[in-house]
Amino acid sequence: MEGRSALSEVEGAVHVPSVEAAADARERDIERVLIGEQEIQDKLRELGEQITRDYEGRELLLIGVLKGAFVLMADLSRHIRLPLEVDFMAVASYGAATKTSGVVRILKDLDHDLEARDVLLIEDIVDSGLTLNYLLKNLRGRRPASLEVCALLKKTGIQRVHLDVKYVGFEIPPDFVVGYGLDFAERFRNLPYVGLLKPEAYADI
Ligand code: IMP
Ligand code: MG
Repeated sequence: MEGRSALSEVEGAVHVPSVEAAADARERDIERVLIGEQEIQDKLRELGEQITRDYEGRELLLIGVLKGAFVLMADLSRHIRLPLEVDFMAVASYGAATKTSGVVRILKDLDHDLEARDVLLIEDIVDSGLTLNYLLKNLRGRRPASLEVCALLKKTGIQRVHLDVKYVGFEIPPDFVVGYGLDFAERFRNLPYVGLLKPEAYADI
């Protein structure tokens, strides 16, 4: 178009319909947002500051539990103003797909030796707590100098074991949630918020 500047073409590109359509597709099965994007980011800044104070003068090793913790790990680690290293573990629970049995199989073990390290385990959610309980026992056996847990979410009142989770983002009701790393049938991990699924989304599976 004559007289149209290069800048206006760039500005126009922000509003191309295909971008909006992609965002809609990601949210199609979401009933409602439980914890919004800004609320999560504010909380992570707060947790990051607390962790920075608590570990002042030390070097941390963050261990993320795959896959759910990958988003939290990326965001939280950038709010911790300390020298740190990251490592990941992948685990699978034995037993039925929907219930944690408490027996955990390690699919990917750590690259780091934990001996004498200050370790902070990063989890997406504490539900029954059985996975975390198993992991803590396993990691304690590797003789770290300290071992604490940071979980974005903790469901209230349904833990089947006593667990000391030092850093908790949000306590939520015991409903199934998705987003911010959490999946249903491997989907929804890329939502920037935590949300509830529409009942018909479960019915498909
Ligand atoms: P737990 O052993 O019962 O505490 O649960 C362990 C794992 O189950 C978590 O790390 C999650 O990956 C998954 N999980 C538990 N509750 C939810 C949920 O509400 N949405 C998505 N995944 C969940
Ligand atoms: Mg899952």
